[in-house]
Amino acid sequence: MRLLTCKNLDIGYHDGLVARDINFHIDEGDYLCILGENGSGKTTLMKTILGLTPPIAGEIIFAGGLIAREIGYMPQQTLLQRDFPASVWEIVLSGTLGKSAGQGVQRFFYSAEQKKTAAANMQRLGIKDLAGKCYRDLSGGQKQRVLLARALCAASRMLLLDEPAASLDPKATEELYVNIKKLNDEGLSIIMITHDLAAARAYANKTLTIGKDIVFHE
Ligand SMILES: Nc1ncnc2c1ncn2[C@@H]1O[C@H](COP(=O)(O)OP(=O)(O)OP(=O)(O)O)[C@@H](O)[C@H]1O
Ligand SMILES: [Mg+2]
Repeated sequence: MRLLTCKNLDIGYHDGLVARDINFHIDEGDYLCILGENGSGKTTLMKTILGLTPPIAGEIIFAGGLIAREIGYMPQQTLLQRDFPASVWEIVLSGTLGKSAGQGVQRFFYSAEQKKTAAANMQRLGIKDLAGKCYRDLSGGQKQRVLLARALCAASRMLLLDEPAASLDPKATEELYVNIKKLNDEGLSIIMITHDLAAARAYANKTLTIGKDIVFHE
């Protein structure tokens, strides 16, 4: 089942075009890797799909009943996030707020349903024991697992990951990839930005390379 189509899509910001004429599609259960050099526009494309940045031209077509609320997003890690002074529990819970939560974490009141979702995703990734810990005191691999659990709180049908393995050692990277693959096997469609060609070859059934030429392989 088709979920998403990007058609003649131009992306960028008011001060200029970043990439143009992007064409690709995602079907249910796909694992798409987005490849390309630094600054080529990979993160911008993800933000455009999420509606956080408006497209300059072209179309993004949601299909199969997919709605934005069913898409989880694990942003590229910034220095700010690395030192975030909140507990693991608060960070994962904030994922239930969906897109409105943006990248920040604020203190809200949560429903029992939201707490159940957060707890279930922590269980799924084996980080229940970390709940009371401060995020900034975790190891890099633990932090990535927390951010993945947070993204999963929104991702009922599709998960967008922006370089999820950046700064992880080979063992933690492999663990993270295995976790993502498991989610994909459970039916979640994955779009992952990576510089890791071996991972793209091992896991993805589609690739999109952004650069001077835009190449979509399926
Ligand atoms: N908010 C913004 N406003 C204006 N220009 C931006 C903004 N964010 C990014 N850019 C510019 O858009 C271009 C693409 O950036 P983007 O972050 O999408 O690249 P990327 O492919 O994700 O790179 P990397 O591999 O380094 O993460 C860059 O030239 C960047 O400077
Ligand atoms: Mg990026």
